[in-house]
Amino acid sequence: MARISVIGTGYLGVTHAACMASLGHDVVALDVDEAKVTSLAAGKVPFHEPGLPELLQESLASGKINFTTSWVDLAAHADVHFLCVGTPQSPESPAADLSQIQSAIRSLAPLLTKPCLIVGKSTVPVGTAQWISDYLVANSPAGNDVHLVWNPEFLREGFAVQDTLHPDRIVLGIKNETDVAVLTDIYATALSGDTPLVVTDYATAELVKVAANAFLATKISFINAFAYLADEVGADVGTLADAIGHDTRIGRRFLNAGIGFGGGCLPKDIRALRARATELGLSEHFEFLKNVDEVNKSRRDYVFALAIRNLGSITGKTIAILGAAFKPDSDDIRDSPALDIALLLAKGGANVRLHDPVALPQVRGRNLPILAVENVEEVFDGADLVLHLTEWKLYRELDLQSISERVANKVIIDGRNCLDLALWSSAGWQVTYLGKPGSQSAL
Ligand code: UDX
Repeated sequence: MARISVIGTGYLGVTHAACMASLGHDVVALDVDEAKVTSLAAGKVPFHEPGLPELLQESLASGKINFTTSWVDLAAHADVHFLCVGTPQSPESPAADLSQIQSAIRSLAPLLTKPCLIVGKSTVPVGTAQWISDYLVANSPAGNDVHLVWNPEFLREGFAVQDTLHPDRIVLGIKNETDVAVLTDIYATALSGDTPLVVTDYATAELVKVAANAFLATKISFINAFAYLADEVGADVGTLADAIGHDTRIGRRFLNAGIGFGGGCLPKDIRALRARATELGLSEHFEFLKNVDEVNKSRRDYVFALAIRNLGSITGKTIAILGAAFKPDSDDIRDSPALDIALLLAKGGANVRLHDPVALPQVRGRNLPILAVENVEEVFDGADLVLHLTEWKLYRELDLQSISERVANKVIIDGRNCLDLALWSSAGWQVTYLGKPGSQSAL
């Protein structure tokens, strides 16, 4: 079993560390945030991810995982260091902010006194791996014995444990053929199943990650553009997606029209990719990603306009919102379409009542002019309009009789196109979908 370090205990780092420990590797995970390290060492995961707290607690109990803020301890412990720090959007531009990567590499390099492998998992602009490799060789006592592999991560929030333990592919960007065996040993369990292995160079490995996310984002904006068209001409975008999805060259997944994508990855990754392509003089060829971003953001304004169309004016009206997270099974509200729509309505003068099964602490932390309601039935109290914006399972299992008695108007806009029309209609509700017959166009 390998002696591993994991640098950075965000979403990626905590999941990777706990999963590697569950496979029997000896893991030390580092973060510069002392409070976070203390909390993780006590078995507390600072975000909502199904199955992860249990996995972490099991790994702590077996002694396979430890947390530290000490770079010296980290460097002494491990032969393989996984770089899992965040690469958020820069505050000043659409490009990625690489300061966490730079800071980690600068802290680690002088302590690398023995041969070791650094494995980059963070999402980075193409060219970063080569820079890191050069820096480590130039600034580590072990010099040329410090090797780098680029191994992008494709985990989805809400499925992070499953995606880490059973990834649908493992990509290794390498410079030295000998490094492959170290990683195939570490990932032996997944590779002994049906996970394919792709071995390539640094630049290709870096691009695989951003290309995958750009493609997924493009699929969503593609279908959302058709949702506009469907609303205009009375077509059904869901049936359209089903029909084109039968073509295996297209596929049905990521063609659910609605309020669009958000979260900590897709939006910032398409912007960073465009910024990098522009740096490389290729901006005109990546202009489509600007469009993908714009169609996506426009869905939020569209639902806002639909609400106004429904209510005449939203000033002083009570609007109940189901969901704040950017997707179900997550408490992540970064760039969340649901929360953005709630804010637009609140700023427009509506009394916004918002429910989410797990993300309310995050919402409260932002001090927004929105009432966070813990009890899902209470969120409906006095509502002139209801918006369904995150497709949590519990919203498809509501007691319609009970909530019908709480609202002022039985009118709902389904921003995720997944509520059962027959069920809601039979309880007397008017349901507006996005891009489906009977929907109202806000254009
Ligand atoms: C994404 C990638 O899927 C993952 O491979 C990568 O490692 C990180 O970024 P994640 O951010 O967890 O994962 O979310 P994802 O499941 O991809 O969903 C992104 C957004 O797209 C969500 O807001 C979701 O609601 C939206 N979405 C997804 C749609 O609007 N329609 C769809 O058909 C699918």
